[in-house]
Amino acid sequence: MAGMAKQVQYREFGGPEVLEFVEVPTPSAPAGGVVVETRSIGVNPIDVKLRTGLRSSDPIDTPRVPGFDAAGVVVEVGAGVDGWTAGDEVVIRQAQNAYATHVVARAEQLVRKPAAVGWDEAAGIGIPAGTAYQALKSLGVEVGTTLLVHGGSGSVGQAAVQFGRDWGATVIATASPRNHERLRELGAIPVAYGPGLADRVRELAPDGVDAALDAAGTDEALETSIELVADKKRIGTIVAGARAAELGIQAWAGGNPVPPTREELALRAAAYAVTLELIELGDFEVEVALRLPLRDAAQAQILVDTGSVRGKLILDPLLP
Ligand SMILES: NC(=O)c1ccc[n+]([C@@H]2O[C@H](COP(=O)([O-])OP(=O)(O)OC[C@H]3O[C@@H](n4cnc5c(N)ncnc54)[C@H](OP(=O)(O)O)[C@@H]3O)[C@@H](O)[C@H]2O)c1
Repeated sequence: MAGMAKQVQYREFGGPEVLEFVEVPTPSAPAGGVVVETRSIGVNPIDVKLRTGLRSSDPIDTPRVPGFDAAGVVVEVGAGVDGWTAGDEVVIRQAQNAYATHVVARAEQLVRKPAAVGWDEAAGIGIPAGTAYQALKSLGVEVGTTLLVHGGSGSVGQAAVQFGRDWGATVIATASPRNHERLRELGAIPVAYGPGLADRVRELAPDGVDAALDAAGTDEALETSIELVADKKRIGTIVAGARAAELGIQAWAGGNPVPPTREELALRAAAYAVTLELIELGDFEVEVALRLPLRDAAQAQILVDTGSVRGKLILDPLLP
């Protein structure tokens, strides 16, 4: 039906069954904003944590649409917007309500998508690459750093491995053995997590580990990092944020009661253009695991939640 958009929404916290695929009136562009017709939507673990209530958020008073990562085409431009026109291909930074065929965004949230970057890659960089980029900058990763990444085969981990490699660091990354070849392809030294991790990393880094990024959130990842990295300020977690103060390490979101600083948020914002350019140059890959129709968002979230696939889960708003 003309004039109608489609979105995924939920009206109560709960399991994947609370996600509904519904038709709504197509939104109009507000002053200072645009409407983007989406082409690809990235699914992230935070979408699941917010839906279940594992990560706290405001009470639900109107239907809530999940999702922070989307890329698409500007179809309507509101009053007072300069520099953007209908037809522009964009990535939406910190999209709100991304699981939809039409997303309203403020002009300052838009980042131009280079023609050479695919829709799925564009929708796959936001949270993972933004987080990895900011975390590695905050940890002072540079030429010569030996960096340990926990959860290296995940979307954040793969981004961290590639930034670390590009910046001249030696990157040791944990993953299940089935994912070690992927880590080697990206330029990391793979290591299996599980009992004995600290000893295995010591063998791989006889001169020591300078910094560690925890994208796994396990006690093992935290304890191994503390055992191996002398300066606790060069250990950061994006999952076990609630434990950061007690452990004396850094944390960015992930349950940290202290919100990210303006500088950290600015780094996350800057990562979009940097990453898009690296993709264009062939220096950065976004691994896409699977694309599913938007209506199958519940299935996509189950796959993310159970860790069943490696790489990004993408929702396609155009697939029937
Ligand atoms: N704070 C933030 O701003 C922020 C931003 C983005 C993500 N996050 C969080 O960071 C985590 C990773 O996100 P993602 O998008 O990369 O998820 P993902 O793509 O689903 O990857 C998760 C990874 O965790 C690894 N893993 C599973 N069990 C593990 C264990 N016991 N020890 C070590 N690694 C293990 C898996 O590796 P194998 O498959 O190789 O076993 C998998 O590659 C999630 O918890 C997410 O919510 C936080």
